[in-house]
Amino acid sequence: MGLYRAVARPLFFTLPAEASHSLAQRLLDLPLPWERIGAADPDPRLRTTLAGIALANPIGLAAGFDKTGERLDALGRLGFGFVVGGTFTRAPRTGNPKPRIARYRARESMVNAMGLPNPGAEAAARGLAQVPRTRPRFASIADEAVEDAVIAHSLLEPHLDAVELNASCPNVSWGRDRDNEAHLAKLLRELGARRRRPLFVKLPPFRTDVERDVVLSLARIAQEGGADGLTCSNTRPVADRHLAVSRGGLSGRALFDDTLRIVGEVHRATGGTFPISACGGVTSAGEALACLEAGATTVQIYTGQIYQGPRLVGRITSGLANAPRGSAFDPADRGGA
Ligand SMILES: Cc1cc2nc3c(=O)[nH]c(=O)nc-3n(C[C@H](O)[C@H](O)[C@H](O)COP(=O)(O)O)c2cc1C
Repeated sequence: MGLYRAVARPLFFTLPAEASHSLAQRLLDLPLPWERIGAADPDPRLRTTLAGIALANPIGLAAGFDKTGERLDALGRLGFGFVVGGTFTRAPRTGNPKPRIARYRARESMVNAMGLPNPGAEAAARGLAQVPRTRPRFASIADEAVEDAVIAHSLLEPHLDAVELNASCPNVSWGRDRDNEAHLAKLLRELGARRRRPLFVKLPPFRTDVERDVVLSLARIAQEGGADGLTCSNTRPVADRHLAVSRGGLSGRALFDDTLRIVGEVHRATGGTFPISACGGVTSAGEALACLEAGATTVQIYTGQIYQGPRLVGRITSGLANAPRGSAFDPADRGGA
């Protein structure tokens, strides 16, 4: 068992989830040797491109871990191929009342109803201007009104390598109770006229046939509307009596089987070449490899880091660098692609 699981995690887990997250953020402010702590495999054969962006490896940090964007430099130095900050909205938000994160240790999962607390796009852009770019960095944006999302995008995009449009958050209303398809199409039209950098759309997960139809339709709208790729998926909405708002989004290991199925279905529905970032429950190199084999170009992680610590990116990248011959991600076939 590594140092994180033996020592750091039990200490973190004596605190409520949000307090331990704040502690982790404060640790990231320290000038520690994050490259050595993350220990990402530098094998050049792990290099990948996502919508023209050169990545040292295909493993990204998912949105929501750094909600202000102030630690994207330290997080990049852990060795992620790319890091996603936010989600940012045009105006600052305080989010939902606490408690808003519950841990489910036995399943290495969590349920959160953060409600998108963030400093707002203007303050976030000012902050990002001061934060060194250690790895390609993206930011997630979301807003109920198209006009607000367009303004948030224009403020943030100059400080980023790409933007991820959060079309999926269970904690903002436009993800569920309005005409999602028309809304996404309009947003992509408005952004398409202005944007300079790649734009990804993060989709919700699906289980039922009805949800599946909606999500696959959103995927096609994103593709036809000029997006550069998709992130599949966000958390799964569930009831949870431990949270002040009694509902939240499930993340972590419990999502993995769904992630694999969803990536495969979205990959087929979008013609097999549209870039997909798999996201949801990936905690090992084998699972990351399975996502890449199902059609993903990259893989994002969040909850796995909470349970397995900062070396997870190192373990996953080393596992990929040693992927068996003949697998979809056979580094020997890639020749340092
Ligand atoms: C506490 C918490 C906050 C999150 N906040 C955001 C967010 O602001 N925007 C977003 O797109 N996803 C957010 N997510 C979802 C993650 O980016 C990711 O899609 C989800 O957790 C599934 O990946 P995982 O199982 O590796 O955690 C959040 C997840 C957690 C656990």
